[in-house]
Amino acid sequence: MSVTLLAIESSCDETSAAVIQDGKILANIIATQQVHEAYGGVVPELASREHQKNIIPVVQQALLRANITKSALNAVAFTKGPGLLGPLLVGVSFAKSFALALDIPLIEVNHMEAHIMAHFIDEPRPQFPFICLTISGGHTQIVYVKSVSELEIIGETIDDAVGEAFDKSAKLLGLPYPGGPLVDKYAQAGKAVFPFPKVEMPEYNYSFSGLKTAILYFLQNNLQKDPDFVKNNLNDICASIQLALTDTLFTKLIKAAKAKNCHQIAIAGGVSANSAIRARLAEEGKKRNWEVFIPDFQYCTDNAAMIAMAAHFKYLASDFSTQEVSPDPRMRF
Ligand code: KG4
Ligand code: ZN
Repeated sequence: MSVTLLAIESSCDETSAAVIQDGKILANIIATQQVHEAYGGVVPELASREHQKNIIPVVQQALLRANITKSALNAVAFTKGPGLLGPLLVGVSFAKSFALALDIPLIEVNHMEAHIMAHFIDEPRPQFPFICLTISGGHTQIVYVKSVSELEIIGETIDDAVGEAFDKSAKLLGLPYPGGPLVDKYAQAGKAVFPFPKVEMPEYNYSFSGLKTAILYFLQNNLQKDPDFVKNNLNDICASIQLALTDTLFTKLIKAAKAKNCHQIAIAGGVSANSAIRARLAEEGKKRNWEVFIPDFQYCTDNAAMIAMAAHFKYLASDFSTQEVSPDPRMRF
């Protein structure tokens, strides 16, 4: 008998639904919210309202695309956390009522674990144990993955996430939210000529708030001398910011790989869509004899396919939730 699951993702500003059958993604529909652009960041209240509007059409479209009827579903999965409480509540409440109406089990999924499980959607798949650098708008973690259910955070940021560092730097340059992809785009035509400090943290941890302050003072200084400094140097500034962030990420990743004597190295999360980070992983991999795993672009930023993949493993382990489940905005594994 085949196993068919519906999965919902609603932790931040993407409403997404996916259908997975026997570990194969049949549909992955994503509605990205545009309302936040004008505010320079995600407004939780507006995000919740958008999720409320989007969730039913997105689920309907996913079922239609997968050519699956509701009665064929074996379980419904959802993101329990981490994320914004209001947006999570929409997904959790939807999944609970859906499960109740169809009398099927519920599967709760950790969003950060799902980013890592995105590596099991397509070939090539990493072998256990592997190290995953999970980089998103809310998190920066080095995770030692021993099996689908044994994940250990060995290092993480003590302040801003790397995605936040990209977005906040972009904001200082006058770029709209989310600025990460724009920094990536402009950096491609620039040279990293401006040296920004790299903050050294103990062990495998990160700190990105110092870099943001350094960029602020750097811009203030230069704008005093030349009011068109940003306009005239945008590509080079972006390339310099991107290099500082990439160097910081890789210093600790290399250290962790050495300590664990691990040669299977993956990246995951929204920031793993960054072209310089992807290229750097490939380059370090060649140099260090790593087998590297870079997810497809569509599975880097938030999507329900990754929730579905994580849920598939939980279904096989009969790891179900009850109707008492509620969102956990600070969920850890
Ligand atoms: O994983 P994700 O979609 O959402 C969270 O769980 O946070 O990650 C979103 C983050 C944002 O900070 C966005 O600017 C960043 O990923 N991002 C990028 C790129 N594409 C997305 N940052 C740098 N370069 C990119 N190409
Ligand atoms: Zn995410």
